Amino acid sequence: MSIVQNIGVIGGTGQLGWAIVQGVLADGLVAPKELWVSNRSGKSSVLGEWSEVNVTTCNQELVDACQVVILSVPPHLLSTIQINAKDCLVVSVMAGVSIEMIKRHTGANRIVRAMSSPAAAQRLAYSPWCVNAQVTDKEREKVALIFDACGLADQVPDEDQIDRFTVLTGPVPGFVAFYADCMVDYAVKRGISHEVAKRAILQLFLASGTLMAQSTMSPGEHVQQMIDYSGTTAAGLETMKKSPIAADIAHGLDMAYNKTQTIGGQSD
Ligand SMILES: NC(=O)c1ccc[n+]([C@@H]2O[C@H](COP(=O)([O-])OP(=O)(O)OC[C@H]3O[C@@H](n4cnc5c(N)ncnc54)[C@H](OP(=O)(O)O)[C@@H]3O)[C@@H](O)[C@H]2O)c1
Repeated sequence: MSIVQNIGVIGGTGQLGWAIVQGVLADGLVAPKELWVSNRSGKSSVLGEWSEVNVTTCNQELVDACQVVILSVPPHLLSTIQINAKDCLVVSVMAGVSIEMIKRHTGANRIVRAMSSPAAAQRLAYSPWCVNAQVTDKEREKVALIFDACGLADQVPDEDQIDRFTVLTGPVPGFVAFYADCMVDYAVKRGISHEVAKRAILQLFLASGTLMAQSTMSPGEHVQQMIDYSGTTAAGLETMKKSPIAADIAHGLDMAYNKTQTIGGQSD
């Protein structure tokens, strides 16, 4: 028998909540009958092949039925969930909402803060998580199983790192889509049709992501390898490395991080 039984996701029919549910179900970590989702509307159309998943509009009913409760509502709606989850392990994937706030709004003592992404549905998410002091070793095992089912996961030391990953890996495709769009735009402005440019660049990102993920080399080592090869790519990379592009990317990421420091406050 799995050590994880009865998982509930408040906001479980939303973009991220349902993606996590799909990852967990596809992994076989729990049976659909052991999974609960809640929302305000009673919407159950997303369930599809997983029609045995329990749907409720009463968050407390979900809490009472589950050992692990995942919170996945928009940060400004945290105050609307109205639960007492003091006996549950509460796991929040909400951007910018601190453990202290989660404690205040749920009555829980054992709290996990995590980040994930809608890529969990394809089991391709990266999900970092951290815990407060009350979370037991056995519960950490459960959390690892849940997020491993959604892709790759790591326990990280503190909430600040969750905020950093909210920016880096939470938005999929997010910043990567921006780089892809710049490349499509470059191609179109030089006479390639938008359709062909899009097809080519999407294939490039699929191949690049797959090759880098399967390689033992770091992204920086890939760049250096291309520079050492001294071909056409090296000419472009050397110019880009001398440009302010890296600093501009860091600045954009810093602005997104700053937003994580205020977005959760809207729930108070
Ligand atoms: N989407 C992403 O790419 C992403 C990435 C990283 C982190 N996140 C985080 O994930 C959380 C959810 O985001 P999302 O994009 O999945 O939002 P979403 O698609 O708008 O889904 C929100 C869900 O919450 C439900 N909901 C709202 N108020 C509720 C309440 N009082 N009780 C029960 N259910 C309630 C909604 O259903 P009803 O309207 O029917 O109530 C819906 O199912 C956010 O905190 C966000 O910061 C999202």
